[in-house]
Amino acid sequence: MSQQDQKREIFGSRLGFLFAAAGSAIGLGSLWRFPWLVGANGGSAFLIIYLVIAVFIGISLFMCELVLGRATQSSNVGAFRKISPSWASLGGLGPLAAFLILCFYSVVGGWIIYYFFRTIAGLNITDPALTAELFNNFTADPVLPLVLHGIFMGLTMLICYKGVVNGIEKASTIMMPILFAIIVPLAVRALTLPGAAEGLRFYLVPDFSRVTAKTFMDAMGQVFFSLSLGMGATLTYGSYLGKHENIPVLSLIVTLVDVLIGFMAGIIIFPIVFSFGFQPGAGTGLTFITMPAIFSEMPAGKLFGSIFFFLFFLSALTSSISLLEAAIAYLIEEHGWDRKRATLVSGTVSFVVGCLASLAMGPLSGFTIKGLNFFGQLDWVSATILQPLCGILTAILVSWIWGSRNAIQEITSDGRVKFALASIWTNVILRCVAPISVGLIFLAGLGVIRL
Ligand code: TRP
Repeated sequence: MSQQDQKREIFGSRLGFLFAAAGSAIGLGSLWRFPWLVGANGGSAFLIIYLVIAVFIGISLFMCELVLGRATQSSNVGAFRKISPSWASLGGLGPLAAFLILCFYSVVGGWIIYYFFRTIAGLNITDPALTAELFNNFTADPVLPLVLHGIFMGLTMLICYKGVVNGIEKASTIMMPILFAIIVPLAVRALTLPGAAEGLRFYLVPDFSRVTAKTFMDAMGQVFFSLSLGMGATLTYGSYLGKHENIPVLSLIVTLVDVLIGFMAGIIIFPIVFSFGFQPGAGTGLTFITMPAIFSEMPAGKLFGSIFFFLFFLSALTSSISLLEAAIAYLIEEHGWDRKRATLVSGTVSFVVGCLASLAMGPLSGFTIKGLNFFGQLDWVSATILQPLCGILTAILVSWIWGSRNAIQEITSDGRVKFALASIWTNVILRCVAPISVGLIFLAGLGVIRL
């Protein structure tokens, strides 16, 4: 283990870390999952609950993971073990969840590649019923989605294989600025569509009558998913972070940027949805069904459409590398594999499981549990069960077992970094507020208790 520690890579610059961490956070969660959750949960009531959870719990847990990763110089399992040997196996839940998410994440990555090229080639399907048919036929196809899923996974593996600085940091530093540069014009275009106001009203005027216990659970799951929490991905990035870096400020920046991009995705999608008379609650297919119809109709839609899917592609790739990296770091540290082998094996296995998720859209669609196909189950198990569980465990481990004093010492870099809220962060949020509220919402989501 000590040999590993000596060789451990470290992010080359602060900006590089910020791009990598924001790249991990901003992804399908913000651009694809968030809008359809908002749609399914009655608009901005969901947005408000999401924001409250992100600010009070999300940032704290984000800091918690970075602190634990940096202090232990390990990824999830090793970090848990160094604090308390009996917790090591619990730490394994993190990379497991990352792995499960990557399986279906990469499938969606493949869909994005398809739609990117389809849009460039010219979609010319303005009838929503027909784009829905296109989507259903494409995702149910037993070959093409698997090939594209393989390409997406291959790209993810290639970047991770090159390592933290030359792979992850470099790729994120190139891709993230492009992402920021293209999201703004898209929002402007969406807002200038006829009927945009109605979409904004749906998005921004809360309808609390539709809020249920499930809304809280979805919002919590989304905060975890979007901020890349509870799976050892952020923790692993923390372990590559320099000792002098200001964790509170970095965490605040990443969270704000992530929330802002998710918010902008809504600003792009809802005006468009309403402008073209769609139902916002259309579910997971919303983005892939609604958008193509609109891009076929709007002036210069080919251009905007391809840019839109390119944006998606960038955001997905910078996230999937953090998912794979959590698994890779685990294999390197715990099993002594080299990076090449760890990358090849974890990427390949994840590809194979992902194929099953992809086939669940077509040939395997009959295989369901409680109405969810395999694809939906992966999402549910990882985002609703494993991530909150792991988040609670990490908070308890850091604040109760390792203790506030150690945590504060690490987050302030032994007093060199000022953090006035340090004591509230560990003693109030990590010790009590986060475990209790995440735990309650988690149990309510499982149907064990009623909120
Ligand atoms: N945050 C990413 C998104 O919003 C998904 C993701 C990447 C993730 N890495 C993660 C989620 C680690 C949880 C944990 O799309």
